[in-house]
Amino acid sequence: MQPRQLCGTPAAEDLRGSPTARPRQLLQRTLEAPLAKNYAGGAAAAIATVAFATVGSKCRRKHRKIRSRSRRLPRRAMANDDRHHPSAKRNRGPILEALRQELPEDGAGFVLEIASGSGCHAEHFASALPKLQWQPTEFVPRDQPTRAAVLQEIDIVGAKALPNVLPALPLDASAPWEEWPPEVRTKAGHFTMVYMSNVTHISPWKVTCGVLAGAGQALAKGGRLVIYGPFKVDGKCTTQSNADFDERLRSQDPEWGYRDIADIAAEAEKHGVKFLQRQEMPANNFILTFEKQ
Ligand SMILES: C[S@@+](CC[C@H](N)C(=O)[O-])C[C@H]1O[C@@H](n2cnc3c(N)ncnc32)[C@H](O)[C@@H]1O
Repeated sequence: MQPRQLCGTPAAEDLRGSPTARPRQLLQRTLEAPLAKNYAGGAAAAIATVAFATVGSKCRRKHRKIRSRSRRLPRRAMANDDRHHPSAKRNRGPILEALRQELPEDGAGFVLEIASGSGCHAEHFASALPKLQWQPTEFVPRDQPTRAAVLQEIDIVGAKALPNVLPALPLDASAPWEEWPPEVRTKAGHFTMVYMSNVTHISPWKVTCGVLAGAGQALAKGGRLVIYGPFKVDGKCTTQSNADFDERLRSQDPEWGYRDIADIAAEAEKHGVKFLQRQEMPANNFILTFEKQ
């Protein structure tokens, strides 16, 4: 499996590319080489923020006391905003509106995010939905030397910035449920939502199957599985650009490629997760919604 290869490559449609492996690639370069241009930009912004905070600390001290944690921390995350892929930032607004419709009226509950990437969606959704407790995860092979750093990158905009985001966990969604992190398994049957975006086409089918099986275990009855991305409808890509991209993905890795919504729905059914609807989203993407029976 080589998710990172494509993830770092600007695709014809950047939305299709792989939003979130870019920050990881940048991180990797930063760790392996002295300077990565974009990451350095983020670092410079962070350093500038710290310097500004130090110089201005005395005069702002009393204001800081009355400034709420929830208001202050997202500002810190914004300083590192260029860590996210532009397409991930673009699509998070419309996705948030779709998520709101799938949450309980009180807006509370546990959300398990599969493949959080740079944490772009966790950051935005957890800020906007403060009653949720958001659990980000990311696929990082055990032997990858930057494993901890990859998760820490998510935490910069997640657990360290927002009170309702938990530290990111390593999760290979293709693994059997018994191998999912204990922090997730102990909440089996209690998650309000399992959320995943832009993964099904950039990973082997067994990853999608693992997510569906895991959602069957993780979700509470009536809980929602929400999957965002590009898909085939009735066996076909919905636009020529999607078809071209699908072909390119398959030529890069025969195990990748667009999935048919009907196949995902049939697989989900095996795990007591019922397909409810598909919703059209900008840039020829869809949101698929499922309910745990
Ligand atoms: C295009 S990125 C999407 C990231 C993020 N969800 C977003 O929308 O910005 C594809 C993601 O699939 C993840 N992925 C690939 N194989 C995986 C696996 N076996 N288990 C979990 N995630 C996997 C990659 O690590 C990467 O984060």
